[in-house]
Amino acid sequence: MDTTSYWADSKGLPSFGTLKENSQVDVVIVGAGITGATAAFLLKKAGYTVALVERGTCGGFDTINTTAHLTCVTDKPLHKLVATFGKEAAQATWEAGRTAIDQIVANIRAESIECEFKWVPGYYHAPSKGYDKAERDSLREDARIADELGFPAEFMESIPWIEMPGVQFSHQAKFHPAKYVAALLRTIPGRGSHVFEKTEAGKIDEEPLAVHCGEHKRIRCRYVILATHTPLMGKTNTLSATLLQTKLFLYTSYAVGAKIPEDLAPEACFWDTDEPYHYFRIDRRHGFDFAIFGGEDHKTGQVTDSSKAYERLERTLGKLMPKARVTHRWSGQVVATPDGLPYMGESADRQFVATGFGGNGMTFGTLGAMMAVDAFLKRKNPWAELFDVHRRKLIGGTFQYLKENKDYPYFMLRDWLGGAEGKSLKAIKRNHGKILHLNGRKVAAYRNAFGKVTLCSPVCTHLKCIVAWNDAESTWDCPCHGSRFAATGEVLAGPVEEPLEKLEAEPVGREINA
Ligand SMILES: Cc1cc2nc3c(=O)[nH]c(=O)nc-3n(C[C@H](O)[C@H](O)[C@H](O)COP(=O)(O)OP(=O)(O)OC[C@H]3O[C@@H](n4cnc5c(N)ncnc54)[C@H](O)[C@@H]3O)c2cc1C
Ligand code: FES
Repeated sequence: MDTTSYWADSKGLPSFGTLKENSQVDVVIVGAGITGATAAFLLKKAGYTVALVERGTCGGFDTINTTAHLTCVTDKPLHKLVATFGKEAAQATWEAGRTAIDQIVANIRAESIECEFKWVPGYYHAPSKGYDKAERDSLREDARIADELGFPAEFMESIPWIEMPGVQFSHQAKFHPAKYVAALLRTIPGRGSHVFEKTEAGKIDEEPLAVHCGEHKRIRCRYVILATHTPLMGKTNTLSATLLQTKLFLYTSYAVGAKIPEDLAPEACFWDTDEPYHYFRIDRRHGFDFAIFGGEDHKTGQVTDSSKAYERLERTLGKLMPKARVTHRWSGQVVATPDGLPYMGESADRQFVATGFGGNGMTFGTLGAMMAVDAFLKRKNPWAELFDVHRRKLIGGTFQYLKENKDYPYFMLRDWLGGAEGKSLKAIKRNHGKILHLNGRKVAAYRNAFGKVTLCSPVCTHLKCIVAWNDAESTWDCPCHGSRFAATGEVLAGPVEEPLEKLEAEPVGREINA
């Protein structure tokens, strides 16, 4: 079983060196997923010099784990968007997705990118476990509103293959995200522009504007774009940065990829009305079709046995496609917001942030890049107000905001006061981690495949919740705002910026052969 995403197999992503000396460009972009790569591509094309700075390797933390439906249909159903924000804002939100798909198509054409882009219908349907009349009526209502707002949609009593009531949205699309991002990345180096991998951005100086990478190197610039999915502090003050982070809810979403017999299902994208929803994508391959099935989302760090999520997905897939042969399992994060709209705008002077895309990061990430370019060039952008990072008028979102954040103190208290999972290193099997109580303190202990144990403080370096071991991904996940750390403590995904503290002193020793 391959536990990396299906796209990782054939990604062909180019690799780049690390930053070795101080540098100067027009714009520094932090994070090389679809958002950062698109921003760098658009700026370079517009004649500006850029430095795209990536902590790991290019392709993004979540971009490589996406299922890459390209759709203007938002996670929040259209009738709810209209009820919350009114028709105009709902239309603008869907228009944002459509514009982003158009931009992707324009980029593909401009660079002759071979990335398996294909226009396909999108089917939004009642879940296979069953539905009631209200559910059917709300699907019909979504189709009616979509059509009225200019997004061709048709309600169907039985959508193809799934045979449930649903809506067919025409002119949606899919592509190979890694091939697309790889092609954008290849255009960036040269003529004063750079891509730096294994280069972590940290502090940002205000005057002169500069992004520090490591202890002794910095890149001077006129503008900074934070495309890190969960935003860095940047030069926002701690309070504002923390406020933004508490408005972001990180969910882990799971996907399985399976070989299926040819022509079993139409080549299309599907997603259902369940909570959390399931999503499906069918691709034609040579001699077989490939299905990607995802869902089972939960707040990151709040489920102890995440491998069960894969089992549930595979069971449901098996019922829908008995001949499916699962070859891949992977997971990643989606970042939700209280009101369902992304945050894209300047979080401080000359600093743009784009986040909170929910399950629409391919489109909203692309739009975020377009908006960042407009902000740098001081051009008006039609979505600037709607997606403003500082928007206060949450309308219906206010309630959700409180409901989501009540978890934070709850998990913080529960995990600080809760017991450890053992008192001896012997409690940890190879390739596993546990929170142990050793010599009067809690430690996050991990034993690798060779028996070597690494001990870290279990205190999340973001806002001090206690991390939990995620057995499916072999990571330490924080239940409060979804930060994730490698088994040996390094940061994998934010909002956190500092690794778990390695414990040097007794009873530990940094790494122990046991
Ligand atoms: C299972 C799953 C299915 C999904 N399906 C869809 C879908 O069908 N359609 C859709 O539109 N969206 C989907 N999404 C959402 C979408 O994948 C994401 O929203 C999108 O990829 C986010 O892109 P990004 O470039 O903003 O972030 P990322 O791809 O996460 O890139 C951010 C990058 O920033 C880097 N970084 C972070 N901090 C630093 C630092 N300090 N210095 C340097 N670099 C740093 C990270 O290493 C990372 O590479 C899905 C997500 C998941 C997990
Ligand atoms: S992610 Fe906020 S405390 Fe851990």
